[in-house]
Amino acid sequence: MIMQERALPKNFVWGAASSSFQIEGTIPGDGRGPSIWDDFCAQPGKILDGSNGLVACDHYRLWPRDVELLSQLGAKAYRFSVAWPRIFPEGRGVANAAGLDFYKKLVDGLLEKGITPWATLYHWDLPSTLEHKGGWRNRDTAYAFADYAAYFVEQMRDRVKHWITHNEPWCVAVLGHRTGEHAPGMKDPRAALEAAHHVLLSHGLAMQRIRALAPDAEAGITLNLNPSYPATPGKASDEEAARIFDGDFNRWYLDPVFRGSYPQDMMKHYEEQGVLGAKGWDFIQAGDLETMAQPNDFLGVNFYSRGVSGDRGPAEEAAKKDPLRYTGMGWEIYPQGLQDLFVRLAQDYPAKAYYITENGAAYDDQLTADRQVNDPHRLRYYALHLDQVAQVCARGIPLKGYFAWSILDNFEWAFGYEKRFGLVYVDYATQERIPKASFHWLKEVIAANKVFDVL
Ligand code: FCB
Repeated sequence: MIMQERALPKNFVWGAASSSFQIEGTIPGDGRGPSIWDDFCAQPGKILDGSNGLVACDHYRLWPRDVELLSQLGAKAYRFSVAWPRIFPEGRGVANAAGLDFYKKLVDGLLEKGITPWATLYHWDLPSTLEHKGGWRNRDTAYAFADYAAYFVEQMRDRVKHWITHNEPWCVAVLGHRTGEHAPGMKDPRAALEAAHHVLLSHGLAMQRIRALAPDAEAGITLNLNPSYPATPGKASDEEAARIFDGDFNRWYLDPVFRGSYPQDMMKHYEEQGVLGAKGWDFIQAGDLETMAQPNDFLGVNFYSRGVSGDRGPAEEAAKKDPLRYTGMGWEIYPQGLQDLFVRLAQDYPAKAYYITENGAAYDDQLTADRQVNDPHRLRYYALHLDQVAQVCARGIPLKGYFAWSILDNFEWAFGYEKRFGLVYVDYATQERIPKASFHWLKEVIAANKVFDVL
């Protein structure tokens, strides 16, 4: 027994999530233009298993199967992302009718099954043409994004009523431009701040366009947030490091979106670090912060783990092999952090509604001889986190829905196909889909609208 049974609120939105580049496949011939992730995968050594997005889950062709799986799960909503280079192969200019048609069919397929589509407009597959002009370091990309968003929303507004502008600007900025682990693979901390700025600006610009075109729709942004803790509470250097972690990971995005300002302590921190160079903050123009702070209908939160600053000692290092303590990504399992995070959000960044737009775990799944997948550790991860979700709701915090990451195993970015996050196993050799034990459990949870014990 690890937990008591807890009910979720009536009308709680149960869903699952995915993203375009991770599942669709990029087989040429349908007018899609290349994206920075195609280019990144082509560079030797960037993707752990040397793979790419060429076939992925072949969802571009097999989507009816995947809609059927969502329906079997009992999902009320499905969060997918739109590949910008399918709509505008060159980022702007002439639209590609085949790309638009694909999303229309997908959305109609979902609606037929009573599943509400939630569309994310940017989940990292920037058209390569725009990258050649400076990508997110170039202010112009923010305007190109707003134009693409407006076009897509206008085409789809009769059937899509839930819009997410961006997925995880921190990853775009930091992994893409500071650490170089993600496309476009830069290692330039100033570029990361420029990219963050233009992504957030583009969020604000797109929100204005969505409001004008689809006043009946709900729109917001998804941030990945990691609550931050000192390794040794009370130890000054750990407390300070935890503040910086929180500033860099969470507040740098939350403050502009909710308050129309960057956190002063972090501006000072980056200046002291010499990140800005001679040009200083020249990329911030008058009015930008106001534009970023458009009223949102909801905040999407992707929650996986927490940040701990300072030395945690050798025992913690050893625990990284323990699947009850760390997932297959090496991410610490800390469900309490979910509740801590929402308590803090409700206090510091009050929103009309919050949704968990991603939560889940990778483990090294094995197919049994009778083609089943028993994934007790993932199942336990979901149970422990949903238990926290129910507690957050019980506190009266408006957490209104939960999207599991992910419906399918898929292309996990720099880890290629090595890491499996799916509720459904994908046999990449045959494209067979095999629902895992966690899928069957979650299906029961959704049907009961209650989280219950897993042991
Ligand atoms: C998030 C991404 C998503 C997936 C999960 C595991 O950062 O939004 O695409 O890779 O992590």
